[in-house]
Amino acid sequence: MTSSIPPSELDIVIFGGAGDLSFRKLLPALYMAHLHERLPASARIIAVGRQPWSREQYLDFIGARSPQFIEAPSFDAVSWDGFVQRLHYVSLDVTDAPAYEALRALGLSAVQRVFYLATAPGLFTGICAHLDTAGLVDAHSRVVLEKPLGTDLASAQAINTEVARHFREEQIYRIDHYLGKETVQNLMVLRFGNAMFEPLWRAPFIKSVQITVAETVGVGSRAGFYDGAGALRDMVQNHLLQLLCIVAMEQPISLDADDVRDEKLKVLRSLRKMDLADIRRDTVRGQYAEGVADGQSALSYQQEEGVAPGSRTETFVALRAHINNARWANVPFFLRTGKRMAKRHSQIIIEFAEQPFSIFGAGPKHQPNRLIITLQPEESIHLGLMVKEPGSGMNLHPVKLELDLQSSSNKRRAEAYERLLIDVIKGRLTHFMRRDELEAAWRWVEPILDGWQALDDKPRPYAAGSWGPAASSALMARENLSWFEET
Ligand code: BG6
Repeated sequence: MTSSIPPSELDIVIFGGAGDLSFRKLLPALYMAHLHERLPASARIIAVGRQPWSREQYLDFIGARSPQFIEAPSFDAVSWDGFVQRLHYVSLDVTDAPAYEALRALGLSAVQRVFYLATAPGLFTGICAHLDTAGLVDAHSRVVLEKPLGTDLASAQAINTEVARHFREEQIYRIDHYLGKETVQNLMVLRFGNAMFEPLWRAPFIKSVQITVAETVGVGSRAGFYDGAGALRDMVQNHLLQLLCIVAMEQPISLDADDVRDEKLKVLRSLRKMDLADIRRDTVRGQYAEGVADGQSALSYQQEEGVAPGSRTETFVALRAHINNARWANVPFFLRTGKRMAKRHSQIIIEFAEQPFSIFGAGPKHQPNRLIITLQPEESIHLGLMVKEPGSGMNLHPVKLELDLQSSSNKRRAEAYERLLIDVIKGRLTHFMRRDELEAAWRWVEPILDGWQALDDKPRPYAAGSWGPAASSALMARENLSWFEET
């Protein structure tokens, strides 16, 4: 690549440009932004990778992979050809400071530079330092940090401190793609844009909250990362806690990034710390055994390529959390996530308290009102109500008020990564994590990791394609509750 390329209004430099995340998520998201004319005409996308490829080789590599991750009606060869005109490839060893000259030689945009770090987090601080030394960081630069940001509190703090030497906090976008999901953003509108929920959104009117993020996929080709991480670090520390924050936070004074993040931080800081007795009683770790997932026989986690023999990494977690504040006094929050589960299904269930008294006497049992927010695979909001069963008696019958969010508007629903990338370009930080938020999440999660070690806790096996170990149902049954598994 040479400096003959004219300067652009925006350069997006992706470190890890040939990695899984890039070809599965980032490039398809940028293609969609291109297709819908959301990128400046002169914007360039500069992929940085280790492979000693030419631009053509990189385009072949991406061309053979990314299109399958773009939804069918949106992909067309002509638009793809237009999109790849924006793409450039720089082969460089990111640990080698002088090599950054190759990036400088591109004459990066003086208007806006976005550095997207989609590499292993161990490389983040080196990349930031080398970019700075090479004179590539200016006041208009932004850096996007992919999760996982560290493996515990100390490593997260070390990354944050080092990155802060080169970028101001307002230039740092810590991404959690769950915050880019339409339904997650909609949850704020549901809560704060409707008068009817807020007065009831608290103890004692809410009895419990469940958050489930179930996946049918296994560890796939990511054992190298996942076996050292596990479900608590990979999913709970970030995605599930962010969902919990949005359910539990107070109304922010505005939608400005810091106002929203201040409220989320308060929730994270109010999470009751777990001691060893809590961990033993209120957490369940699981690991998938052989089974049938998505209609096909599936290997056990131990048999997957790259998993260490005898690995104790959890692929499933269920736990009961508490928020120490007046709004949520004695309301348990049950969180559950796992790979190779029965269905791909992410839901938040708000279960309202039973009526203190019923005039309907005997007969079919009242079901509690439940607000069921489904994030994926479909996006919907259901409210479970009791109505009268037709006929002469006054018998009760449960029904659902159903709102299918997909069909409620003709407007295109962008994928999370597209939405968040556009936020980065526009400088909107509301849906990104601030440093103190991320560290507060680690502060709550780390004792659980330590506790499991101290208790020598082995993950319980569950059949691939099931809902996880029996102990996870027992966690709920103890309180006469059960996981909600309908779609
Ligand atoms: C990622 C995790 O952050 O989220 C993966 O690292 C997980 O393990 C993925 O599969 C799930 O994302 P989504 O959007 O498919 O629910």
